[in-house]
Amino acid sequence: MKFFKNYSLMLLPLLVLPFTSVLSLEEAYNRYDFPPEFVFGSGTSAYQVEGAADEDGRTPSIWDVFAHAGHGAAGDVACDQYHKYKEDVKLMKDIGLEAYRFSISWSRLLPSGRGPVNPKGLQYYNNLIDELITHGIDPHVTLHHFDLPQALQDEYGGWLSRESVRDFTAYADTCFKEFGDRVLHWTTLNEANVFALGGYDQGITPPGRCSPPFGLINCTKGNSSIEPYIAVHNMLLAHASVTNLYKKHYKYKQHGSVGISIYTYGTVPLTNSVEDKQATDRLNDFLIGWILHPLVFGDYPKTMRTRVGSRLPTFTADEAKQVKGAFDFFGVINYMAVYVKDNSSSQTQDLHDYNTDMALTMTLFGNTTFGSEHANTPWSLQQVLLYIKETYDNPPIYIAENGQTTPQTSSLEDTTRVRFLSSHIEAVLDSIRKGSNVKGYFQWSLMDLFELFRGYELSYGLYYVDFKDPYLKRYPKLSAHWYSSFLMGTLHLQCSHSVL
Ligand SMILES: *[C@@H]1O[C@H](CO)[C@@H](O)[C@H](O)[C@H]1NC(C)=O
Ligand SMILES: *[C@@H]1O[C@H](CO)[C@@H](O)[C@H](O)[C@H]1NC(C)=O
Ligand SMILES: *[C@@H]1O[C@H](CO)[C@@H](O)[C@H](O)[C@H]1NC(C)=O
Ligand SMILES: *[C@@H]1O[C@H](CO)[C@@H](O)[C@H](O)[C@H]1NC(C)=O
Repeated sequence: MKFFKNYSLMLLPLLVLPFTSVLSLEEAYNRYDFPPEFVFGSGTSAYQVEGAADEDGRTPSIWDVFAHAGHGAAGDVACDQYHKYKEDVKLMKDIGLEAYRFSISWSRLLPSGRGPVNPKGLQYYNNLIDELITHGIDPHVTLHHFDLPQALQDEYGGWLSRESVRDFTAYADTCFKEFGDRVLHWTTLNEANVFALGGYDQGITPPGRCSPPFGLINCTKGNSSIEPYIAVHNMLLAHASVTNLYKKHYKYKQHGSVGISIYTYGTVPLTNSVEDKQATDRLNDFLIGWILHPLVFGDYPKTMRTRVGSRLPTFTADEAKQVKGAFDFFGVINYMAVYVKDNSSSQTQDLHDYNTDMALTMTLFGNTTFGSEHANTPWSLQQVLLYIKETYDNPPIYIAENGQTTPQTSSLEDTTRVRFLSSHIEAVLDSIRKGSNVKGYFQWSLMDLFELFRGYELSYGLYYVDFKDPYLKRYPKLSAHWYSSFLMGTLHLQCSHSVL
């Protein structure tokens, strides 16, 4: 395209110079300082890259419906990975990725949410998995990335109903049966904590439910006081059911593992006061403990029981037994850190939600010029890894997402992202040396894609995608070159993929 041709001339000297200088930083570490079985990859999710939203039998998910209800852009086409998966696997191979984290679109595989399998959906995921394996890239698969089939939302209210446990288990069973001979790493639910908060308290993510005065949008339905807790409760039961199914029927022959991922913040008490320190502990309990405490110890953290009271569902003795220990690993998602200030005054309100239950105020840490996930705080990731090690008996962890947001521009010279990745990977190495049982690192994201907040305006990608180009051409950024040289110890990307 004309724009690129002209632009590339200007870009040429720029691209070469900073790369040399970035390389000459001479990292104090390299890939071989990590254990050989430690895995480095990059990630995406189905609705954010696949496109082909109503092709070949796929039906809408709650994310499709939410996006089309006027909450910004949608993923109808996205990066069109559904048609370009071979090209994209080649891009991964060019970087030297050892693994690819992607998700299966439940409503592509099972268009009614349960019942008959869609043969074309099945074929697509078989093709993608085979293509990855042919190129030596390990598939790490997520089953639910904010995209419950709308059919189940309509039928019984989705995650608010216990029926979701049965249907999610049947869906996972299909995936284990069809793909489990080649897929060894399964994540049941992506960011169950943030999914529940955004979708059922604030209303800003699918399915967009909330109630006044808590929502950040004008929701037509919902109850912010209780629904986030109910949704997480059912998701925990569903996760446990799937994990126990795998243990019982698949693990002995497939030898894989099953986990769940959570969104986390690094935390700093705003002051040295006892109140702010206690508020910081509460934040960790409410955000991390909400999911991990039941899975490790069989119930929610005490702070949550005390503060949420009867609005927090209870596990029967049998359910507690099912849930406790139902994981092989945890997926940790970390981008940023927050200051935490006690706000006990919110406790005196009549109506309560998650935020007034926690009774604290968060402010973003560091430079957030380009969005909340821009500041480079590698200690934040390390803090979370070591917190989980100490608090939850050092479980195996995969860093499911970590990366930096910048505006989506055609500039391929993302030096801040290179610094971000380089410093965070160093923090991971340091965490391993401090005893964290972390087993892999997945940069977010492989390419610029459809983001939940702000659609196509923000970028996390190693590859720039020209969304104005009908062919959606991909171009490696400096960060792709850097990641590649880190992984392979050599400048490897071919110029044919770049604008040069
Ligand atoms: C919600 O609706 C009210 C009344 O129509 C309007 O004043 C307000 O700006 C809306 N809030 C949001 C976040 O859209
Ligand atoms: C939310 O549920 C609680 C508990 O059932 C109830 O007391 C409250 O009135 C409900 N709020 C709304 C907005 O429906
Ligand atoms: C404290 O919580 C109350 C009630 O939710 C809220 O109105 C107030 O803005 C909060 N204060 C701060 C500093 O966030
Ligand atoms: C914040 O980050 C932007 C983009 O990386 C940079 O241009 C700006 O100078 C930074 N601001 C501060 C105060 O460091």
